[in-house]
Amino acid sequence: MRIGILTGGGDCPGLNAVIRSVVRTAANHYGSEVIGFRDGWRGLLEDRTTPLDIGAVDGLLTRGGTTLGSARVAPGLLRDGLDRMRAVLADHDVDVLVPIGGEGTLTAAHMLSEAGVPVVGVPKTIDNDIDCTDLTFGFDTAVSIATEMIDRLHTTAESHQRVLLVEVMGRHAGWIALHAGLAAGAHLTLVPEEPFDVEEVCRLVTARFERGDSHVIGVVAEGATPKPGTMALRDGGVDEYGHRRFTGVAQQLGFELERRTGKEVRTTVLGHVQRGGTPTSFDRVLATRFGLHATIAAHEGRYGQMVALRGTDIELVPLGDAVARLKTVTPSRLAERRAFTG
Ligand code: F6P
Repeated sequence: MRIGILTGGGDCPGLNAVIRSVVRTAANHYGSEVIGFRDGWRGLLEDRTTPLDIGAVDGLLTRGGTTLGSARVAPGLLRDGLDRMRAVLADHDVDVLVPIGGEGTLTAAHMLSEAGVPVVGVPKTIDNDIDCTDLTFGFDTAVSIATEMIDRLHTTAESHQRVLLVEVMGRHAGWIALHAGLAAGAHLTLVPEEPFDVEEVCRLVTARFERGDSHVIGVVAEGATPKPGTMALRDGGVDEYGHRRFTGVAQQLGFELERRTGKEVRTTVLGHVQRGGTPTSFDRVLATRFGLHATIAAHEGRYGQMVALRGTDIELVPLGDAVARLKTVTPSRLAERRAFTG
């Protein structure tokens, strides 16, 4: 058998661990070959490939990023390029394609699968917003990095009796903010799933200083939004997927807080540091298991599926179910946060 593999969307710690796992499982269990397409769907559209044998994946387990390269490709280009992608796969004798990616990549994988191309999807994203899987690899690493950074901000904030706002990634889901906020003992965590009232945030800040607390740490998800009428947020328009662009909510909230409470506020935007570097051991294991089970599914002809973590097991779920909606923070998880607010 010949497996094609590509990594699409934003990079994520653990992508290389999946590539290594697919190549090793294919070669060692089945005597099969793997070919990589460079820079996500773009490499498939432009016929840019790289051979992947055991030697090529040596040392990849611990390395961040993706050795295949990645890119975001507009959905329209993919729809128009369907026949072209099918032809390139046929030219390379690819029996099954294993795309590794987030919402955009898996939606494209589903489209290909519906068009009759044999596909087994692997979910990845630091945002943890893919439905039908308990977790995605990359999330644990991002939360660990954000937690360490927030731990460090506590000491500088208390030395100056300041409010420190930390903006974390997560797109339209608040998972990174929620988990890093809990892990690092934040006093306030703002997520997209629950629009915030800036006056309430001001009251929390004032109350903490009035009762003698030394500082305030607020974790702000990049997708957090104010309740209508409580604070104007710059409008960044929408991206090629029709998603709202983020425009630095933490910094804008910081200015408002300083103006309304008179306290000193500083803002830290963690940005791409959350996606960089080596994956945690948890993510290495999850990525390795995803690669193993995707390769088994490919050899068993279980196409149109995505590997998923359900409890402690890796299972297969229909790609169509996985991309039907984004997995956002549930009301019960939001409720847990309340005891640690203030
Ligand atoms: O989806 C992963 C992610 O890091 C999001 O958290 C973030 O909004 C986005 O990608 C950033 O994308 P880019 O790397 O294209 O700026």
